Amino acid sequence: MDYCQNHILCIHDLSRNFGGVQALHGVDIHILRGGITGLIGPNGSGKTTLFQAVSGMDRDATGDVRFSNKSILGKRASKIYHAGLARTFQLSRLFPELTVLENLMVAARPNMPGTHKQATQLLMRINLHHYENVLASVLSYGQKRLVEFLRVLMSAPELILLDEPAAGINPTLRQTLWSMVRELNAQGTSFFIIEHDMSVIADLCADVYVLNEGEVIAHGDLESVRQDKHVLEAYFGA
Ligand SMILES: Nc1ncnc2c1ncn2[C@@H]1O[C@H](COP(=O)(O)OP(=O)(O)O)[C@@H](O)[C@H]1O
Ligand SMILES: [Mg+2]
Repeated sequence: MDYCQNHILCIHDLSRNFGGVQALHGVDIHILRGGITGLIGPNGSGKTTLFQAVSGMDRDATGDVRFSNKSILGKRASKIYHAGLARTFQLSRLFPELTVLENLMVAARPNMPGTHKQATQLLMRINLHHYENVLASVLSYGQKRLVEFLRVLMSAPELILLDEPAAGINPTLRQTLWSMVRELNAQGTSFFIIEHDMSVIADLCADVYVLNEGEVIAHGDLESVRQDKHVLEAYFGA
């Protein structure tokens, strides 16, 4: 099979059933290499479940997922992460008993040189270098989320999945986050982003998928999917 030659990630016929709840049903998605693709859909439509399956956190989905044309579905999360596909979580996963700097250092690929410098530079980029030696537990919720994003960057991933990364953080940190996404993308990193704020999706994503009840109901640029009648029904009722 060579259906995934020109994309960084191809999801084919992905399904996931939780004891009778069909959270994903025959999902097909293609993620452009070097692009920023958006994933939207009402609450409970299966967005997080999709990221869980793609990242290897959930290994019970069926179908085929290819990252750089290699099958990854069912592989261990650590293996997928080290292959260059990283994700953040809706809730912070920092180690509260480690310092901010240590949290970044432990997220680097093993034996990678320059880890300390890279961590320091990233903290400077988000104006948190004053906090490098404090415990992560001291940070505000928004700061934790930003540091969690930096953790992902420490592994220099090719593709980053972001699940509502800006939820609950203040407008300043939010701007920092989105401008970093833009910068990294300009340097070649691909993104697949779940985000509720349509102005962010409009700004960043040339390509958007809409999920509803576990199925892709629309795909294209935001303007066209917004006018799709299935999408209007899913969001606003018939
Ligand atoms: N671990 C789980 N066990 C049982 N049901 C789940 C689990 N994870 C998700 N679901 C169900 O799958 C559906 C999709 O959920 P989710 O992927 O979290 O949606 P979204 O992220 O789009 O809000 C929901 O009906 C949810 O209740
Ligand atoms: Mg979710």
